[in-house]
Amino acid sequence: MNRFENKIALVTGSSQGIGAACALRLAADGADIILNGRKLDERGEDLIKQITAMGRRAHFLAADVSHMHNVVNLVRDAIAVYGELDILVNNAGVEKNKDFWDVTEEEYDFVMDTNLKGIFFGIQTFVKYCMSNKRGGVIINMSSVHEEIVFPHFAAYCASKGGLKMLTRNLATELAHLNIRVNNVAPGAIATPINKKLMDTPELLENVLDNIPMKKMGKPEDVAALVAFLASDDAKYVTGSTYFVDGGLTYHYEEQ
Ligand code: BGC
Repeated sequence: MNRFENKIALVTGSSQGIGAACALRLAADGADIILNGRKLDERGEDLIKQITAMGRRAHFLAADVSHMHNVVNLVRDAIAVYGELDILVNNAGVEKNKDFWDVTEEEYDFVMDTNLKGIFFGIQTFVKYCMSNKRGGVIINMSSVHEEIVFPHFAAYCASKGGLKMLTRNLATELAHLNIRVNNVAPGAIATPINKKLMDTPELLENVLDNIPMKKMGKPEDVAALVAFLASDDAKYVTGSTYFVDGGLTYHYEEQ
């Protein structure tokens, strides 16, 4: 399916996990891809090979999106690579598992700067480009089920995703007249490196699966399929909300 013919997408945090799956899926559906991670390593090189083998173009830009000037430059550079940018997937995100009372300012800033501030100013740079070139755009933010449900010991992470929920609502309204759509995707427990400890600890995994009606973790490709839909014209009337891909986790309740 070539629904992204002549479209260019930037996917932040795409060396691995959900970001890599999004990059591959958008490419499979016809887009050229700007990959991003803190540095180019064999994972990025391998993705470039896979995307090129699909007959699409791929380029890697190294940038740590937790610093405002880096994210601004990343979006500007991404536009410069192929001369255009249509789709911005703000996927890069981090979490810290810590008791609330032990969280340091540095840890708080690391989570908030990556998950919220970097996205805010990345979108701002993209929107300025869209405005000055009189073109629309699509923005998809990788949120989490934890923009909605609590996650004890991850207070900063929840605050960042809760903030992202409102950022998306707000921007969808403010940018609609510019033909820029903004949506969040909220993955639940997905088998990715961020969940390595969970997957390696059977007791932890069992607790998580107890909360998931489908009784299994999701795959990065499950998330990528939703991202591809939201990025496409099939979703041309879809803006300002969050779409869950969580095996039923968020609205789960059972008594036994
Ligand atoms: C977190 C994971 C967690 C999942 C379900 C995600 O947002 O990154 O660590 O397992 O939510 O709680």
